[in-house]
Amino acid sequence: MKNPTPIVEIAATGRFLPDNVVTNDDLAKTMDTSDEWIRTRTGISERRIAPDGLTAAEMGASAARQAMERAGVQPGEVDIVILSTATPDRWLPSTACDTQALLGCDNAVAFDIMAACSGFLYGLSMAEGYLAAGRGEIALVISAEKMSTIIDWDDRTTAVLFGDGAGAAVVRRSNGSGRGILSTHLRSDGRLANLLYRPGGGTIDPLSQGVLDEGRHLMKMQGREIFKNAVRNMAEACDLALQKAGLTSDDIDLLVPHQANIRIIEATAKYAGIPMEKVYVNVDRYGNMSSASVPIAFDEALEQGRIGPGSKVLTAAFGAGLTWGAMTLRM
Ligand code: COA
Repeated sequence: MKNPTPIVEIAATGRFLPDNVVTNDDLAKTMDTSDEWIRTRTGISERRIAPDGLTAAEMGASAARQAMERAGVQPGEVDIVILSTATPDRWLPSTACDTQALLGCDNAVAFDIMAACSGFLYGLSMAEGYLAAGRGEIALVISAEKMSTIIDWDDRTTAVLFGDGAGAAVVRRSNGSGRGILSTHLRSDGRLANLLYRPGGGTIDPLSQGVLDEGRHLMKMQGREIFKNAVRNMAEACDLALQKAGLTSDDIDLLVPHQANIRIIEATAKYAGIPMEKVYVNVDRYGNMSSASVPIAFDEALEQGRIGPGSKVLTAAFGAGLTWGAMTLRM
């Protein structure tokens, strides 16, 4: 199969990470865990935790400003702001609108998407569709996550896994350059929603003193089931995205996977036939930042020269929903 001609490309990326570093040893002071357990089971050594008062919109705007500056794009030129988050600042309005206001993207349509850890890939795909339909020239895809606000800090099985941060990409039409998104495979399975969810605080179980007292507004997870589904679905998505692009794993210069757990990353890479030297990993430094993990990893890989003009990249993500997917790109 011939390589498809990309319709949109990532013009530039940016990231924001809160300064506050929380190590495994820090966590072991307040919960029954250890650096050794966390490192061997997850690969995580530390994560960033945002201070009270720093919003997801502000983190997202910082990442987006960096991406826009690098792309040479002015706020008024942005046609659409797509923001993915599992931790909106408020239930109404969208965090995207708050971010748009902070950025001064006055000519843009702005809205949130909720696809948990797969949000950046879903967002890129939506931006691609919007631009391909001729509705605009420039999209901002932002992922901003303040996971520390929905973690149950008394639950050691989830609290050690997550961190805060934001990543962003300026997406524009590729105008025949050959750079851009080559293929996409996205899926969801709502039948497995209860493997990773927040039972209370929404319309099913509105916020009440009881919800707060029992912590039903906080994240609950069945870790082992999530682990199995993550590996199976990401591996299959990688295969299908490669097939759609007419590529094989040998063609890929770098795999940029969602950063949930080093064991999930290693298993996915193995199934996809990609050696670990060609896999970008930062889960050790940041933990799982939900949808912000992929764009932050992407941004670091670009900055470090692990990918550059002409590189072929495979990216894959998995999260609550369940949601998952993979994408191939030529940079
Ligand atoms: N510190 C110390 N011990 C812990 C612990 C912690 N932070 N968390 C769990 N344990 C204990 C458990 O209580 C259990 O003890 P027990 O045997 O006495 O009952 C033991 O460690 C093993 O727990 P288990 O859940 O079987 O461990 P695991 O090897 O499956 O690893 C996860 C747990 C969460 C690391 C792993 O299942 C995982 O990464 N799942 C995917 C999670 C994820 O990525 N979610 C986001 C997806 S986007």
